[in-house]
Amino acid sequence: MKRHEAIVPLSHDHHQALRFATAMQKKAAPTKRALQSLEEKLEDAKRTYEIELVPHFAHEEEILFPVARGYSKELDEMIDSIIEEHRIIKEAFLTITEGNLEDNLDRIGKLVEKHVRTEERELFQKIQEVVPDEKLREIIGKIIPVK
Ligand SMILES: [Fe+2]
Ligand SMILES: [Fe+2]
Repeated sequence: MKRHEAIVPLSHDHHQALRFATAMQKKAAPTKRALQSLEEKLEDAKRTYEIELVPHFAHEEEILFPVARGYSKELDEMIDSIIEEHRIIKEAFLTITEGNLEDNLDRIGKLVEKHVRTEERELFQKIQEVVPDEKLREIIGKIIPVK
C-alpha cells in the first residue's frame, strides 16, 4: 500500500532510524558507521536519540496517534503497544552506560529495528485502512522529517 502523504515524513525518518539500528548491532555489516569504536557509537547513539528519535516519537504520539485513535479497537491497542515500545526504547537509551556497552548498543539496535518494522508493516498499514482519508489529510504538513 502506498504511504499516505500525511505519513510519508515518518517513513522518511524510519529509513534513517534503520541505518542507525543496523549499525549498532553486533551482526552489522562493516559499514563506516558500524566500524566506529564503542566510544564513537555511544556518541552516535546519544546524538541520534536527541536529534532524531525523541522528536520522531513526539511527532507520532502528539500528532499522528491522536487523529488515528477511536476508529478500531485493534488499532487503538496497536497504538498503546507502540507507545509502550517508545517507553522501553527511551529507557534503554537512558541506561546505555550501565553494564556492558556493546551489549546495550546491540539491544538498542535490535529494539529500534523491530519497532520501525512493526510500524511500517503493521501500524501504518492499519492506520491507512481504518482512519478516514480526510482525517489523515488534517495533519499533512504538521509533521516534518527530523533530519
Ligand atoms: Fe514509533
Ligand atoms: Fe516511528
